[in-house]
Parts: sequence; structure tokens; C-alpha cells
Amino acid sequence: MLTGSKQLLNNAQKSGYAIGHFNTSDLEITKAIVMAAAKLNSPVIVATSEKAISFAGLEQLADIIKNEAEQVKIPVVMHLDHAKSFDLCQKAIQTGYTSVMIDASSLSFEENISLTSRVVKLAHRENVTVEAELGALATPDKYQVGINQFLTDPEKAEEFVKTTEIDGLAIAIGNAHGIPLPEEKLDFNRLSQIRDKVSVPLVLHGASSTPEAEMKKAISLGICKINIDTDIKIAFSKNIVEFLKTHQQNIDPREMLGSAASAVEAVVEKKIELIGSRDKAVS
Ligand code: G3H
Ligand code: ZN
Repeated sequence: MLTGSKQLLNNAQKSGYAIGHFNTSDLEITKAIVMAAAKLNSPVIVATSEKAISFAGLEQLADIIKNEAEQVKIPVVMHLDHAKSFDLCQKAIQTGYTSVMIDASSLSFEENISLTSRVVKLAHRENVTVEAELGALATPDKYQVGINQFLTDPEKAEEFVKTTEIDGLAIAIGNAHGIPLPEEKLDFNRLSQIRDKVSVPLVLHGASSTPEAEMKKAISLGICKINIDTDIKIAFSKNIVEFLKTHQQNIDPREMLGSAASAVEAVVEKKIELIGSRDKAVS
């Protein structure tokens, strides 16, 4: 069933596990995510980025997610990921998204507060939760010039959350989107300091590149939403390549895509086991 994220993330935070956020851009990946979560009786967050929306269409993706959510008993959150504008957040809320992320982290602190607060006002009127980001995710050049200056400042995080009244905070503690960086390392001290200052659920973006032990440690220190995209893309694409190699006479897209979807399902199941949300669908 389609649901909001507030209660789910609060439960996760209280009990020391995390909920998985998995990115989709089509029917096959959405089905795979929802089926994996239903199989393990886990709540799940199905997310669409701006790129996914320009690929498939906002309404089209929302219809797919809503339909899949209606087929299962587990809580399914429909989440807008890394939206850069107020307008897109507004459209998503009007379309039935139950959670939005406004990502104004590339703006100044004051501008980030201002745009995020506008989205919060709108979203809360409609009972939609808001995630925002403070700090910048890691890239190779940031590690080269010294990563610390880009990471989330715990004092500022406190002020940011208090002023904007967001429901979840995405933090930068050395995590990077995409495949692992050679230097990538999570700053666990900083995570603990942020956790001490901020009471809302904390979100780890770029978790595909986070080794299992680090993911568990991050969850034990207060992360309760884990974002996964790249591992899904890798599983899907590798499976298609393999399928085409081994089934050269097979021209049926349903078999090809079905096989790739099974690979995605396996990834989602593995992440759910790892982050501890199995059997947490009703708590
Ligand atoms: O917002 C989405 C995530 O941060 C995905 O990161 O592609 O590194 O798994 P990832
Ligand atoms: Zn992200």
C-alpha cells in the first residue's frame, strides 16, 4: 500500500535499522523493487530522480508506482529524489508523491534554508514529508583538495533542521554517488556529532559504494534511510549483456527484461537483509 515515510523512518530510527530507498525509472525495476520488499515483508521507498522523470514522465512513473504499491500489503513510499526546484516538488505532491527531497545543497546556506522552507510549507499542508541535504557528496576532486570543507557541519545541521522543519536530513560524511572512489571513507565521528545535534532521521546517499561493514556501522550510529541506485543499474545492465550473449536467438524483450528484473530483485533483497528492515513491514 502507498504510504508516507514519517512513521516508517521514526520506527527505524527508534529500533536501529534502516529503510531502503531504491531508484526506479521504469515498470520492470519498480516491480522488482516492490516484489523483493514484499517477499521479505519490508517497508520500501521507491524513488524517482529528475533524470528518471525526464525519461519516463512524472505521471507515468507515479501511476506505475501507485499500481505496484496497491498490489502489496507492505508500506511503499513514493519519493521524489534530488529535486532541484520548488516547481517539481509541487508537481510531484499534486501527482500523489508521499515524500519529496528538495536538494538545494549546491546553493548557499541561506538560499538552501529559504528554498527548503518553502517546500516544507507546501508539503506539510498536504501531509507529505520533506528530505533536504546539507553539505556536498564526495567526488574525486573534492577528496584531492581536502574533503572536510565539503562535509556536513554538525552545528549548521542543527540550525538547518530547526529553521526549515524538514523531516529528514541527507548528510555528507565522505559518501559519494556512483561507483566507489579509491579514497572514499565515511567520517563516523562527524556522523555521531550530527546525530547528537539533530533529531530527525538521517539519510545516507550514494550507498551503493558503501561496504557492508560501514553501512552497518553507519546504521548503528543513526542513519535510518539508505539510498541505492547504482547497484540496481549495474545489476540490470550486466544481466542484459549476459542475456544477449547467452541467448543470441531470443528476440523477446519480455524475457530479456524479466531476467534483468530478477537480477534487480536479488540486489534489493540483499540490501534489505543488510540494513535490517526484513519483517519490519508492520511495527
Ligand atoms: O539518491 C540516490 C542515491 O544517493 C543513490 O546513490 O547511485 O551511489 O547508489 P548510488
Ligand atoms: Zn543521492
